[in-house]
Amino acid sequence: MLLGPPGVGKGTQAVRLVDEMGAEHVSTGDLLRAARREGTELGQRAQRYMDKGELVPDSLILDLVREQLSEVAAATDVLFDGFPRTTAQATGLDVVLERVGRSVDTVVLFEAPEDTLVQRLSGRRSCPDCGAVFNTYFSPPDSEGVCDRCGGTLVQRVDDEAETVKRRLQVYLDQTAPLVSFYDAHGARMTRVAADRDVDDVFVDFAAAVGGGV
Ligand code: AP5
Repeated sequence: MLLGPPGVGKGTQAVRLVDEMGAEHVSTGDLLRAARREGTELGQRAQRYMDKGELVPDSLILDLVREQLSEVAAATDVLFDGFPRTTAQATGLDVVLERVGRSVDTVVLFEAPEDTLVQRLSGRRSCPDCGAVFNTYFSPPDSEGVCDRCGGTLVQRVDDEAETVKRRLQVYLDQTAPLVSFYDAHGARMTRVAADRDVDDVFVDFAAAVGGGV
C-alpha cells in the first residue's frame, strides 16, 4: 500500500513497480478518472468532489475497490495507490481482505516538503489518450504540450489548479495522514521513503521496501 500526499510521486513509482516487478495496480484516482471519461453514473457523482479537491464518499470508493478486487486472482500481489484515504476506507478494506484470507502486509509512506508537492502538481501534464505523465519542471516532453509516447495533446488536471491543490493538501492532513498511526497500530510493516529525490533514487528505496530490491 502506497500512502502519501498529492503530488509526492505515488502514481509515477507505482507504474514503474508494476512494470518491473508485476502486481495489480489499484489506483482509485485512476479508476475514478476512467469512470468520468466513460461518463458512468459513478464518474458523474465523483466529479463534483474531485474538482473541488474533496474526497469522494467512502461507500462509493469501497464499492469500486470491491469490484476491482473481484477481478484479481487470489494469489496476485496488489499495490494500492491513493487508497485508502480515510479510516473508514481502511476498516472497509480489512473486511474485504479478511473474507478472502488476505491482509495488508506492507505500507510505504512517501514524504516530501509542501513546496515540492505544489511545484510538482503545478507542473504536471498528462496525456488523456495513453495516460503518460510529464512535468514541465522535472520531466518535460520533447515538444511542449505533445505526448512523447503517442503524440496526444497534454492536459493539466482540473484539480491541479492552485486553489484546489491547497484544498487537497489540507484534506490529506485532516483525513488521510491519520492512517499512518492506524497502520502503525495494525501490525503492517511500515517504511517511510523520502520522495523529494530523483525518481530513480526513490524507486530503489520503494522496491526494497516491498521486498524486491533493484
Ligand atoms: P489521486 O489521483 O489519487 O490524486 P492524489 O493522491 O492527490 O495524487 P496525485 O495523482 O495528485 O499525485 P501522485 O502522488 O500520484 O504524484 P505523481 O506520480 O502523479 O486522487 C484524485 C482525486 O480523486 C482526489 O482528490 C479525490 O477527489 C478522488 N479520490 C481518489 N482516491 C480516492 C479515495 N480513495 N477516496 C476518496 N476520494 C478519492 O507525480 C506528480 C508530478 O510530479 C508528475 O508530474 C510527475 O512527473 C512528477 N514527479 C513524480 N516524482 C518525481 C520526482 N521524484 N522528481 C521530480 N518530479 C516527480
